[in-house]
Amino acid sequence: MQQVEASKEAASSRPLPEGFVPSNCTYSEQDWPVLARQWFPVCRADAALAKPRQVVVLNLRLVVYRLPDGIRVGRDMCPHRGLPLSGGRIEGEELVCAYHGLRFGSDGQCTKVPEKLAPKTADCFMVTMFPAVERHGLVWTCLIPDGEPAIPGISLAMESDGQGDPAPLFKLLPENSADAGQFDISVIKLNSDLENHQSLRNLALDEYQRLFDEIGSGSQTNADRKSLS
Ligand code: FES
Repeated sequence: MQQVEASKEAASSRPLPEGFVPSNCTYSEQDWPVLARQWFPVCRADAALAKPRQVVVLNLRLVVYRLPDGIRVGRDMCPHRGLPLSGGRIEGEELVCAYHGLRFGSDGQCTKVPEKLAPKTADCFMVTMFPAVERHGLVWTCLIPDGEPAIPGISLAMESDGQGDPAPLFKLLPENSADAGQFDISVIKLNSDLENHQSLRNLALDEYQRLFDEIGSGSQTNADRKSLS
């Protein structure tokens, strides 16, 4: 039976506009919205995230950060000038943009605009937020959420290359496994064309593997360090 260790879900405020695809997208305009309905992992649930982190899912840059009541996932694009929020900082229960100091609450709504930007007010600015659901020790998000989270089952093993501490190795459970979760169901629901289904499935599997590798290898942590230097 699927275990939900904890579910901290932020409302998906201001969803992506209809027909949206990221700029320089490597997926076709038909495939992206289908894949974007899948749930993908963005970080370990115990990630400290003392500083906001950029995670790319399906070519879309996301900012992942921790507030006192849980992890949040938003679009890594400040609604003021489009600059990355992952360069900002957390202060109390707010994300603060590094460029002109706009502050955003946990639902992505701007809470304060510096005086120098008057007459603009906080109502003018809102970050696109995505759900953040904790399961299997990871935080998962969905770019076009629709109904209950369909999160696939995963296995976790510790792997060592003989040097240093063993690294966690995340893998999707085989689809015929009793705990495989809803990965396949959610794709099939949207696609009756079998050939296209297979191609979408492979694209989704590649993205899962890339994200699992990043999370398991700690390369996200390295990216954090780089952005600090
Ligand atoms: S770009 Fe974020 S406050 Fe200006």
